[in-house]
Amino acid sequence: MNEVIQNMRQRRSVRHYLPRQVDQNALEEILAAGYAAPNAGNRQQLLVVVSQSAEINDHVGKAHSVLIHKFNRSGPNVKLETDDFASPELRSAFHNAPTVLMLFGPKNFYFTDADGYIFAENICLAARSLGVGSCIVGEVLEAFSDGYGRELLQKWGIPETYRSVVFVTLGYSAEGEKPERPNKYTPPLWVLERKR
Ligand SMILES: Cc1cc2nc3c(=O)[nH]c(=O)nc-3n(C[C@H](O)[C@H](O)[C@H](O)COP(=O)(O)O)c2cc1C
Repeated sequence: MNEVIQNMRQRRSVRHYLPRQVDQNALEEILAAGYAAPNAGNRQQLLVVVSQSAEINDHVGKAHSVLIHKFNRSGPNVKLETDDFASPELRSAFHNAPTVLMLFGPKNFYFTDADGYIFAENICLAARSLGVGSCIVGEVLEAFSDGYGRELLQKWGIPETYRSVVFVTLGYSAEGEKPERPNKYTPPLWVLERKR
């Protein structure tokens, strides 16, 4: 089987990582694969933060977990409160990944999410081919909306016209190789129109 197709079929999300940091050359190759992704209008507007700070990853990942939990309980328009971080049971949505890619894109662009997720998939496939595990963590609410997050955005120079789009966790898997995922997809509906 061709290597690209093999990666597509065998890639699985990794949610437990070894503490070892991702090799720098591998990381640069993986990012280059992300930057090569198709993007709407070839505007190439995404901004990527590579966070290897355990503190930042822990806080933003926990903010994300809190928001998802609140959203599932009470729907949209939920906010981050300082108390939300107090529970010792709160787990980061980024698990223990040593590297987290945080993607940002323009708020008022129709294809921001599409661009972000296609970029993310390129990242996951390139990572797989270099022996690096990954998991897409979809941003559905503002994980940077508390004081801590706003300070980060300012420090990183993320414009106010941008929002977070998607995260990708990266690291070496502590899970072992997973089997190919069983598919629930139905067979394709063929409509073949051939000229005689
Ligand atoms: C849009 C999107 C959002 C996702 N969000 C999360 C997430 O928040 N947390 C997580 O652990 N995995 C997340 N995933 C990974 C999926 O759970 C995973 O791809 C799916 O269960 C199939 O498993 P596989 O990736 O191992 O084939 C997300 C994937 C996509 C495409």
